[in-house]
Amino acid sequence: MRTFIEGMPKAELHVHLEGTLEPEHIFALAQRNGIELEYKTPQDVIDAYDFHDLPSFLTIYYAAMGVLREEQDFYELAYRYFEKVAVENVLYVELFFDPQAHTSRGVGFATIIGGIHRAQSAAETNLGVKSNLIMCFLRDLSAESAMAHLEMALPYLDRIIGVGLDSDEKDNPPLKFAEVFKRAREHGLKLTMHCDVNQKDIGAHLWECLNDIQVDRIDHGVNALEDEAMCDEIAKRGLGLTVCPVSNRFVVQSLTATEIRAMLQKGMKATINSDDPAYFRAYMNENFIALQEEGDFSRDEIVQLSRNAFEVAWIDDAQKQIFLRALDDYVIDAA
Ligand code: ADE
Ligand code: ZN
Repeated sequence: MRTFIEGMPKAELHVHLEGTLEPEHIFALAQRNGIELEYKTPQDVIDAYDFHDLPSFLTIYYAAMGVLREEQDFYELAYRYFEKVAVENVLYVELFFDPQAHTSRGVGFATIIGGIHRAQSAAETNLGVKSNLIMCFLRDLSAESAMAHLEMALPYLDRIIGVGLDSDEKDNPPLKFAEVFKRAREHGLKLTMHCDVNQKDIGAHLWECLNDIQVDRIDHGVNALEDEAMCDEIAKRGLGLTVCPVSNRFVVQSLTATEIRAMLQKGMKATINSDDPAYFRAYMNENFIALQEEGDFSRDEIVQLSRNAFEVAWIDDAQKQIFLRALDDYVIDAA
């Protein structure tokens, strides 16, 4: 199964660019940009990764990304991620980025998106990895700040496929951003939002996503299983759920294999993703392999999870068929 998973064509739909910042790269960028770190070695950084909930992760995550300053920094960050996943047979990525976490430090929007876009083009040409970009708003900041960043993004709409909502979910419900997401939709952007595992008011947040925001996808969304009517609605709409097994383990001490299998059995389009792979120390293949082992998933279940990602990806039908055919051919050849 391990070899099968490693070679299987995959799509990743839930990965934060800033969550791909590896400890060695933090050090290299700190040196180049003249920034003093509180750690002595990359291993010291890893030793500090003692996450037990979302806020304990976010504190370290935002501190580390302070080393990202120049266009070249964003280029390198994104290109290194694409290099990693190219080897893992990831054919397509929808990449989140958090502009507010950089503009708040004086980094220009054009610097951020310029570096990322250059890496996307190079990855497609050199590595054969296609990608689209999703701009996330930080939900613990104001709706006004989110709206200002949506306006900053307007000259770059041809480089952004959708908007998302991330950061600290507690007391920051989807409805806080209803106006921003309505405006994003009017500009033709796709909509997704984090409904992180076991958050306060998670049931209400999920229903707001479905009924008020009318999202095109849900990030995480594992708690939907607690509500039969919600599961039926998600299945009926064919909405994708971007589940992140290793990330979940830091919150619920499980890879949520039971829950992911339940989603498949209910016809919900669960997908497997890495979330913040440099921090959770697991990229796509590690997520799939660990999940398969915990849940003793069959080959058919693993293939279904990969198929779901291509099916719910924000790409046109012709491209979708090309990816799905690559997956089908792989399965036939491996039989
Ligand atoms: N930002 C980066 N990773 C995140 C996650 N898993 N949940 C919320 N915000 C995030
Ligand atoms: Zn996430």
